Amino acid sequence: MSHRVALVPGDGIGPEVIAEARRVVDALGLPLEWTELPWGSAHYHEHGRMMPEDALETLRDHDAVFLGAIGDPSVPDHIALWGVILEIRQRLDLWANLRPCRLLPGIPCPLAGRGPGDVDMLFVRENTEGEYAGVGGRAHRGLESEVALETSVFTRTCIERLVRHAFQLAASRRGVLTSATKSNASRYGYVLWDEVVEEVAVEFAEVQVERVLVDALAARMVRDPGSLDVVVASNLFADILTDLAAAIQGGMGMAASANVAPGSDAPGVFEPVHGSAPDIAGQGIANPAGAIWSAALMLEHLGEAEAGRAVMSALEAVCRDGLGTPDVGGSATTRDVGDGVAEHVVSAMSARP
Ligand code: NAI
Ligand code: MG
Repeated sequence: MSHRVALVPGDGIGPEVIAEARRVVDALGLPLEWTELPWGSAHYHEHGRMMPEDALETLRDHDAVFLGAIGDPSVPDHIALWGVILEIRQRLDLWANLRPCRLLPGIPCPLAGRGPGDVDMLFVRENTEGEYAGVGGRAHRGLESEVALETSVFTRTCIERLVRHAFQLAASRRGVLTSATKSNASRYGYVLWDEVVEEVAVEFAEVQVERVLVDALAARMVRDPGSLDVVVASNLFADILTDLAAAIQGGMGMAASANVAPGSDAPGVFEPVHGSAPDIAGQGIANPAGAIWSAALMLEHLGEAEAGRAVMSALEAVCRDGLGTPDVGGSATTRDVGDGVAEHVVSAMSARP
């Protein structure tokens, strides 16, 4: 049976990096069909919406969604983000956002004296509520007294399913889980968060769990990244921490993500962590590594674990060879990197018995 993948290249460098990731996946020769969906800012200018009204039904007809990036200076960012990514994450209830942060050999690390052996973290981000629940409003518009309320939403169900998944992932790795919190200043949401972590911890005696205030955690990621393995955090905290993590693993262009709902049949959404990078769009120099890595995560989700590993080994080989775009200190183009990874994939596949 063929895998059906919905492809949303999006805006800015989205289409540039997605094209390379797609070429790498195609080089595997798997039974896989792409449905290209031209959603994003151009769609907004033409139709007044970022994606069509039946977008969610279209996506549900697929096994996975592969997304570039959304955002353009001509559309207010909150409209662009809520029009596609946040809408999809919430409506498909893709409650876990998995963001691996591993420094690949050959990629320069901005932390002095740190190398690939020191950086291997997995962020597990709550993806449907918290500070991005979309609850709030504005009153007294345009007046001096104007007020804006943005309400954080924390529910036991959503925290619990996420935390339990993070514990499972920690148990399958080094057995260390760090929970990011802010239950000193915040008195409700993060206090509930901590309580749920403690309750779920009872089921995982083999996992060592620690609670760290998010500000201290940011400092620790810089000072001692090797002390962290799986980090579980709310929507806002993990959003911020994973940009820091991306910098530690060589930059925004390196970081990959998977939006999933373990145990459900909703299609996962796989996307590089970076945005549409209007500052470098159209120059052919965007780093496609994060997109290619996201494709590897997608293959795993589709049950093609071996193909996913082949893509990761090919990406690692290319990085080790020093074939990189300018953001990681190289002089290669987006296309050169895509070609390099695709070639490694082809030779790995043809070397198979
Ligand atoms: P950004 O991630 O697009 O760019 C931040 C910096 O990283 C820029 O200097 C950019 O050149 C660099 N960069 C990002 N990806 C790169 C890559 N693959 N290779 C080399 N350099 C790369 O974030 P920014 O500038 O804050 O946002 C730009 C637009 O993207 C905004 O409209 C924002 O709302 C949107 N955005 C969309 C996201 C998504 O679609 N998931 C996520 C983050 C931002
Ligand atoms: Mg972000």
